[in-house]
Formats: sequence, C-alpha cells, structure tokens
Amino acid sequence: MKTFKKIFYLILFTTLLVSCAPQEEPVITFEQSEIVKTANEYIKENTSIVNTSLKNKYHLTAPVGWINDPNGFSEFDGKYHLFYQYHPYSSEWGPMHWGHQTTKDFITWDLEDVALAPDMDYDYNGCFSGTALVENGIHYLAYTAVTEYQNQGMAYSYDGVTYKKLDELLIDGSKLPEDFSNNDFRDPKLFKRNDNYYILVGNKDNKNNKQIILFKSSNVTGPYEYVNVFYSRNDLGGILECPDFVTIDGYDCLIMSPQSMGSDSMFDMQNTDSCVYLVGNFSTNTDKYYYTNKQLQEFDKGFSFYAPQTMTTSDGRVILTAWMRSWSEPNLTKIDNWCGAMTLPRELTLKDGHIYQQPVREIENYLVEQKTLTSLEITDENRILDGFEGRLSKISLTLDIESSTAKKYGIEVFKGSKYATRIYYDSSLGAVVFDRTNCGTMMDGKRYAKVDAVDGKIKLDIFLDVNSVEVFINDGYYTMTGTTFTPEGNESVAIYSDGGTAYFENINKWKVNVD
Ligand code: FRU
Repeated sequence: MKTFKKIFYLILFTTLLVSCAPQEEPVITFEQSEIVKTANEYIKENTSIVNTSLKNKYHLTAPVGWINDPNGFSEFDGKYHLFYQYHPYSSEWGPMHWGHQTTKDFITWDLEDVALAPDMDYDYNGCFSGTALVENGIHYLAYTAVTEYQNQGMAYSYDGVTYKKLDELLIDGSKLPEDFSNNDFRDPKLFKRNDNYYILVGNKDNKNNKQIILFKSSNVTGPYEYVNVFYSRNDLGGILECPDFVTIDGYDCLIMSPQSMGSDSMFDMQNTDSCVYLVGNFSTNTDKYYYTNKQLQEFDKGFSFYAPQTMTTSDGRVILTAWMRSWSEPNLTKIDNWCGAMTLPRELTLKDGHIYQQPVREIENYLVEQKTLTSLEITDENRILDGFEGRLSKISLTLDIESSTAKKYGIEVFKGSKYATRIYYDSSLGAVVFDRTNCGTMMDGKRYAKVDAVDGKIKLDIFLDVNSVEVFINDGYYTMTGTTFTPEGNESVAIYSDGGTAYFENINKWKVNVD
C-alpha cells in the first residue's frame, strides 16, 4: 500500500512538473518548393558521380556540381552559415541556386539543403549573389532575382534550413533613376546602422559609370528607397561586382570585385577580374562614404580569388572567404563533375590603413606531426626536404633577406620529377613571386607581390590542400592564392637558391589532419 501511494505521488508530481515547465515554441519550418526539393534529391543521388581525387579536403566544396561566389556568410542559431552560388546539375555555371553549408569552426562543414532556387515569377533565371542579416531571431537573405532583368529579392528563415521568399521583389530595378541600368544591377549587401537598414548594389549608368548604389529603409523587409551613388568609377570593362561593407578596427571598409580593371604595374591587378578595398567611414547623417585614401588596394596578389565576402562573429572577429578561382581560369575538373572551392576563411585586421589577412585560428586545431629545420644555408642548390612531402600541409618559413645574396630563392611545393610550383623571393624586384608555370596543368604563369622585409626577414605561411596553394606573407600583409591541380604523385617539397647563397632561418611543416 505504501509503495502504491509513493508511485502515485511520484507520477502526480512528474505530470505537474512537465505541465508547468515553460513550453518552447516550435521553430517554424517552411515547405520547400518543388525546384528546391528536386535539387536536393539530385544532389543526394549524384554525389557518387564525382571524382574526388583532386578535390580539396579542408576547403569548402560542393558535393557535386559547380560553385562560385560565397553568399550570405553569417552567424545564426549558434552556427556559421555559408551559402554559395550553385549549379548542382553540372560542373559548369547554370541557373543559379544558393547551396548551403554550416560550420562551428570554419574548417569542417556540414551540408544543408539548398536554400534558394529559381522558383518565383520574379527570379526564374536565377538567384544571384547576395548577403545575410540576422534580426530578431530571423535569418534574412538578400539576393539578386534574375529574369530578363536584375532586381533584388529577399528570403527569410526561422530554422536556418528552409527559406521563404517575399511575395514581391525587395527592390524593383524598373524604378531606378532613369539613366541607371536594370540589366546590370546585382549583388546586394544588406547591413544595419543605427535603426536603419541599408543595401549596396553593383550597377552602371548609361554614361558607362560603374557604380555602387545605396538604398535605405526603416524596415528590414522594405520598402527600400534609392539614396545615392555610394562609389563610382569609369575605368572598368565590367561592373563592380559583389560589394561588401564591414567595420574593421573602427573603420568602414568597402570591398568590391571590379571586372576587367587592369593596371600598368606588374605588381597589381594582374587578373582579368580583381578584388579591391577602400578604407573610410560611413556617416549616417549624410548617408555618404568618406574614404581616407582613394587608391584602391588589392585583396590578394595571386590568381584564384574572387568575390570575397565577410562576416563579423559574435566573438568580435571579422572573417573573410572568397571563391578560390577566377572567371578566366580553366575548368580543370569539369570531367570530374565538380568545380570550385572557397578559400580558407581568414581573420581580418586593419593597421595603418591596410588590411591584414590571417588564416582563421581554428585551423591550428588540425595541425599535427610538426617537423622543424633551423638555420639552413644553400648556394645554387635545389634540396628536397625529407619528411616535408604531402598534399595537405601548412609550411612556414622565414627567409633571411638581409643576409642572402642569391638572386632568387624560396620553396617548391607539389614537386615531382617534372613539375613544381615555386614560391620565391626575387631580390632584383623586391617581390615574392608565385610561379605556377610548371605546376603540371595548363595554368597561367606568375604573380608578384612587392613586399618589404620586416627586420630583414620575410615570413611565408603556406597552406596546401590537394589542388591549391595559399600564401600568407609577413603575417598576412599580403596573400597570394592559386590553384595548381598538379597531378597526383607530385608531393615533394624543396628549397632552392639561384645565383648565390640563401639563408632560411627556419622551416616548419605540419600535416593538416581532417580525417
Ligand atoms: C560574380 C558574379 C556576380 C553574380 C554571380 C552569378 O562572380 O558574376 O556578380 O551575382 O557571379 O553567379
């Protein structure tokens, strides 16, 4: 009898406890459109058609198909989200979807469902690039809705998985000032200042000025009113694509990807399409941008870096990633049923008006099997470093510029009996050179970064991932990013000097362990 009573009271107590506990609201999930569902099914069924032999291991790639620009880079619901321009159905560009992956550490990514697909009357030709903003627990995506024209659209989500588009366009390009183009009107950057929402969009006018134009609203979902031409120039072949706007160490940085800009200097803008930034301040009184120096600075001095996008983390870091490719590079994995990767996410800091890029600190958790060599001196020699070989590595070396007499000296990676990619210092130019002429694939040659030695030294941190090389020079003062797609079997590392003696203060190598 006693036990019976006890059990009775226990059940009563538990029932009361459960019914009084605050009930969590169920998270709202949206029904996906047929076009989104079809894309997700296709991806699931076709991941196995991909030949992964040259696929990156610790850089974001899609399971199958083509990707380009990063989109909607943001933090929502305790995770970092990265979307990307995506054509799952082939390894070439096609009607754009937004692919979606999430991560807790920027290195290991979880595949999510496709977030956006061309499934509305106002975006039947594609969902082009855009950005994200989190407001009151809602994840908003601003993107370019493409028909015969380019307009801006918006989608939102409560669960960070399913996204619902607004019934109407967010910004209708037919209502732009008369002399502005409705054909080149893309890549919205959505941000908030004080109590207003702003959107920057790439555009041009009928006098061929390439411009970034500003819109404003007191409500995140609009209506947005045209405010002004935020930034403009008339010396490009195309438009200023993918504007991004971010505060780094107290300054507002405007990041843009100008098409066909070019430069007379061998040290600048050597790719068909470049990525540049300005440093300044945005005034919410005038809604104008005041840059401190009108000279555009280039983001990356390599070959394969386009349409970078930033996000600010809740722990206060500004992180950037970019498409690790450029439009003019050959599509070497077309037959492998995939194409495209993102760069290693990078932490940005600003010093004396210059943006430094450092690999995201979480990568340190994946570095194992350190090998160290110190005080190496070589004269007109090419020396293989035993134990340094590998396709997934971080290699750090310090060149002693002050003491070395060699004309050219540095390191070779992805090296075999026939091929090698060289990262070296050219003392007559005072520049670090990334030379992929002999990388084993039909890749365009050399890029140059003019750099000053710091205390007589130049430090290089190099990340290799199967097909790619990312070089961080002098703690990220400059970076040089390039894909090589060197055939398998070319994994050695060597140091070399031409025309004199070279001193390497130290060389460290780690394996990047992502298994
Ligand atoms: C930049 C870009 C964007 C556009 C997207 C289309 O690489 O051309 O301007 O939104 O790609 O995929």
